Amino acid sequence: MDTISVAAARRAEAVGRTVRLCGWVRTRRDSKGGFSFIELNDGSCQGNVQVVAAGELPNYEDVVKKLKVGASVAIEGEVKASPAKGQATEIHAAKVDLLGDADAESYPLQKKGHTYEFLRTIAHLRPRTNTFGGIARLRHQVSMSVHQFFDERGFFYIHTPIITASDCEGGGELFRVTTIDPDKPPKTDGKTDYAHDFFGKPAYLTVSGQLQVEAFACSMGKVYTFGPTFRAENSNTPRHLAEFWMIEPEVAFADLTDNMNLAEAFLKRIVGDALAKCDEDLKFFAERVDKGLFDRLHAITGQPFLRVSYTEAVDILTKSGKTWEFPVSWGSDLQSEHERFLTEQHFKQPVILYDYPRTLKPFYMRVNDDGKTVRAMDVLVPGVGEIIGGSQREERLDVLETRMKEQGLHPEGYSWYADLRRYGTVPHAGFGLGLERTLLFLTGMANIRDVIPFPRTPGNAEY
Ligand code: 4AD
Ligand code: MG
Repeated sequence: MDTISVAAARRAEAVGRTVRLCGWVRTRRDSKGGFSFIELNDGSCQGNVQVVAAGELPNYEDVVKKLKVGASVAIEGEVKASPAKGQATEIHAAKVDLLGDADAESYPLQKKGHTYEFLRTIAHLRPRTNTFGGIARLRHQVSMSVHQFFDERGFFYIHTPIITASDCEGGGELFRVTTIDPDKPPKTDGKTDYAHDFFGKPAYLTVSGQLQVEAFACSMGKVYTFGPTFRAENSNTPRHLAEFWMIEPEVAFADLTDNMNLAEAFLKRIVGDALAKCDEDLKFFAERVDKGLFDRLHAITGQPFLRVSYTEAVDILTKSGKTWEFPVSWGSDLQSEHERFLTEQHFKQPVILYDYPRTLKPFYMRVNDDGKTVRAMDVLVPGVGEIIGGSQREERLDVLETRMKEQGLHPEGYSWYADLRRYGTVPHAGFGLGLERTLLFLTGMANIRDVIPFPRTPGNAEY
């Protein structure tokens, strides 16, 4: 007898098979006719399969009729066509084994309708809910689409390091990695001496794999990295995590237009795959979380992204007649309120902003001929704001070194990075897509803490 998933058991093709199913009881209902209905879920899909357990089962009174919400069970039986509406199949149980009981008094998911805030306090159990199961399946699908998309286009997947001595984004939002005893740090001239630390110098968790993946772009052409990144920014917002996952492609012999085209095709593929393969989960989010979900998703796949310069965007914002919490003028950083106004209210569609002031962006972005702007791009989408940040890279050694000094970086620390310009430099470009921002977009969920299995935010590293 095959053990199959609930997803497989719910398909009409399964009718007639005798199978084994394992999962958790979502509900149990006892019929007056002396039998019970068990709604079984195993996380393989959004829906449950209905198990019909007859009163003739030897353990019917002792086990079946006492099955509680959250208990784990193994069921053997035949898959039959279901007479009920909304389900193709049901299981007629020949055997019901209780694997693990769940105390009805204390099981936190006994009742439905908990707030997301409460569910965050039981992050180890929330994957058993419809919402968090759906998010986990979508997260998996996006990850698969990422690898398939790049593989089909001849990109190589590069594993960039987690521990690094460089600050890619220059924001100084780094978590230090050290084995120094905080109570007895080695000192030289009264200062902690990192020459005695594990790596012989200060080391950090990476904020981005970009600098290292550039070394592979400048030798293999088309590459990407996909891994966890860490930022110690103390911004307690619904869009920031201290640990998040980022996908960063990097392409040699490519300019900003190529980069925009790649970003657009990439997002379209991710959304298209989710629409094609996660229909049941997306419908759940469209019904329960965000009524406009499908319109938002189809707006990604159905039309070209607008491309608007930073200068034009600032013009639109200043002429909008709106009062902003953060006033805008040319040279000021765009805040979430500005980005969301542009994509949600003004353009009402995805938009790529490009050519930002050089003072706002990191040292590695290519300086334009005007000397004032760099070849940066941010992709903004309704509901989220910035989902992608990227640029064409500065391939001219002298300009790169000037930019490093301008931003207070020590070129000695980045000499390996400068070597990529010193020997056979090429125009190249890349970007970073935040995986969790993508999931906010795909589900309509409001808080980024709810789209990663175990969120890390200021003051919170539970589990
Ligand atoms: O714009 P960012 O900082 O760009 C980089 O890190 C570049 N090195 C990428 C590259 O060119 N290879 O981050 C890229 C994306 C953002 O657009 C956003 O989606 C996400 O990463 N992101 C965050 N997501 C969650 N929490 C945070 N604290 C994030 N910071 C950035
Ligand atoms: Mg950015």
